Amino acid sequence: MAFIDWAPKFSVQSVVLDQQHKTLIALINDLHAAMLRGGATEDMQKVFKDLISYTESHFRAEEGIMRQAAYPRLEAHHQQHVEFVEKARDLHAQLLAGKFTVSMDLLRFLKSWLSEHILGMDQQYAPFLNAQKNPVASRVRAAQSVQRSRDRERAVGIVRGPLSIVRGSVLSDGNRRTEQRPSGSGCIQTMTSVVSNK
Ligand SMILES: [Fe+2]
Repeated sequence: MAFIDWAPKFSVQSVVLDQQHKTLIALINDLHAAMLRGGATEDMQKVFKDLISYTESHFRAEEGIMRQAAYPRLEAHHQQHVEFVEKARDLHAQLLAGKFTVSMDLLRFLKSWLSEHILGMDQQYAPFLNAQKNPVASRVRAAQSVQRSRDRERAVGIVRGPLSIVRGSVLSDGNRRTEQRPSGSGCIQTMTSVVSNK
């Protein structure tokens, strides 16, 4: 069993960000596994360094999405990211200096920080970002619908145009001949004269 398991409750309704959070969870699990293996300190230093690097790139991506959407709580969110990175870098420096070792206390800290951050701060932006996405999707669907209607009207116009011209000329020709005939001549006669006229 993994130290942390991904669960649907962690979803922020974004395929990209959910995947990044899963990678963060996997890296914490890697660090936990390295500690349990009791491997060389260098191994744990490397896994911890990878975790910090990935965390920083994830935070940049997440903040970029929030910035693009003009998310109003970006600054407070950014501040929480900054505080975590500072803390993690400090721990890494102590690890490199031999003043600190990877322990269950560190892993529990990482687990609780990430879980609380995703369930708290991160999930606050989910409805905002989705509300931003849906109007765009709606506008695109509306524009596509208008375009389809125009295409249909144009296609019908192309077919109807020549037909209405033919029908118009036939009718006007027929009407002309009807007018020329003495009253009482029927529709059959009119149509016969139109056909024989061709
Ligand atoms: Fe975040």
